[in-house]
Amino acid sequence: MGCQMNVYDSEQMERLLAPIGYWPCSNPDDADLILVNTCSIREKPEHKVYSYLGRLARAKQKRPNLIIGVGGCVAQQEGERLIKRAPHVDIVFGPFAIVRLPDLIRQAVEDKRKIVDVEAAGAVEPLEIKPAGFQQGRATAFVTIMRGCDNFCTYCVVPYLRGREASRKPESIVEEIEHLIAAGVREVTLLGQNVNSYGMKNGHDCNFAQLLESVNDIEGLRRVRFTTSHPKDLSLELIGAFSRLEKLAPHIHLPVQCGSNRILKRMNRGYTRDFYLAKIEGLRNGWPDIAITSDIIVGFPGESALDFKETLDLVKRVEFDNLYSFKYSDRPGVPASRFSKKVEEIEKSERLARLQEDQLAITLKKHQSLVGTSQKVLVEGLSKKSNNQATGHTPCNKTVNFSDGTAEVGHVVPVKIIKAFAHSLLGESQRCYGSLIDKKGGMLHAA
Ligand code: 5AD
Ligand code: SF4
Repeated sequence: MGCQMNVYDSEQMERLLAPIGYWPCSNPDDADLILVNTCSIREKPEHKVYSYLGRLARAKQKRPNLIIGVGGCVAQQEGERLIKRAPHVDIVFGPFAIVRLPDLIRQAVEDKRKIVDVEAAGAVEPLEIKPAGFQQGRATAFVTIMRGCDNFCTYCVVPYLRGREASRKPESIVEEIEHLIAAGVREVTLLGQNVNSYGMKNGHDCNFAQLLESVNDIEGLRRVRFTTSHPKDLSLELIGAFSRLEKLAPHIHLPVQCGSNRILKRMNRGYTRDFYLAKIEGLRNGWPDIAITSDIIVGFPGESALDFKETLDLVKRVEFDNLYSFKYSDRPGVPASRFSKKVEEIEKSERLARLQEDQLAITLKKHQSLVGTSQKVLVEGLSKKSNNQATGHTPCNKTVNFSDGTAEVGHVVPVKIIKAFAHSLLGESQRCYGSLIDKKGGMLHAA
């Protein structure tokens, strides 16, 4: 559950557990071990964790030897309390304890006791383990380049649960990407809570723009993306990287959170609305078609109708390619949970619906403007809808489903866009793969 960093962490768990004999299975009823990697950024994902754990209680009743572990941010936040609330859970482990997971599992199995490890200590480098066999054969992968966050936005639990900002060594990141390329990966997304401040605190003598340059030079890699950027740290050097580095995909996720200076200040975001708009202008001056996406919170404590209007106005001006919008929710211990003038739930819902309606029209307009164009799509697999359709993304990160069930995973295919939807585009392959169709008519994987 949760963000891309959790996806990466779950993959690290898979890699760590393979040597001690645990492999993924598709049906939880067949599992000896179930690990739930959780998110507590907002109230909703946290509820999802408890309702899923409720369902696992029945599985544990039927099979008492089943080991259930809970990791991620809810584990870090709740610690022992989680076992009190869900007594069928055997292991609670925070994000720092992932490297210790094989030992924790051994202890839970051998000693038959509950284990809680939410110690906020551990190396920033993941264990240098090559991708396991079951992780091969895909075109894209996430690579965490830093952990933690020092920004302390007043609504956010991340700095309390994921700790202080720490960056991995550039050599270790490059080496991990080389391993992924050897396993067939062609596109990587570099992950951090605020990648723009990569290297600033660790004295690696390498900032984020320089790291991108090293990654751009890796042979066999076709595309590099990154997320998330904090507007206050978006440097001119990084903006310039979009036109300088040919593998850097022209897309940036730049969360604005809101369009009112008064609320931005209460959020402790460290920039003003005009500062943000100037960054957008800088990005578009360098690369006019760059895709820009963002996050917005509606109903932050004290947000008036006028403040919200300023958010709507900013969204109209910027015309984001896509927007992830959320109702503000109180998180335990963060400053905003103690702020006065909470916005009524019904008001938050109305603001969210209005914002999403405005954005939908913008997204659709942008998607429609692509109809008739040719896009370079990196093939990721078969589309969920049909075996005769492949799916992938454009450099600007638009999802494209296109007629060509034999396109090879990891290859870039020119695709003519014929139809636009709210969340994807439909296209026709402009290339023919006659000789590369495998015997079952399925996808061939790139070497
Ligand atoms: N309430 C609502 N949304 C939140 N986010 C972070 N904390 C909260 C909160 N307490 C949103 C922000 C962030 C995204 C990952 O989640 O928009 O960018
Ligand atoms: Fe949370 Fe702000 Fe850090 Fe993003 S930058 S993780 S919103 S504290």
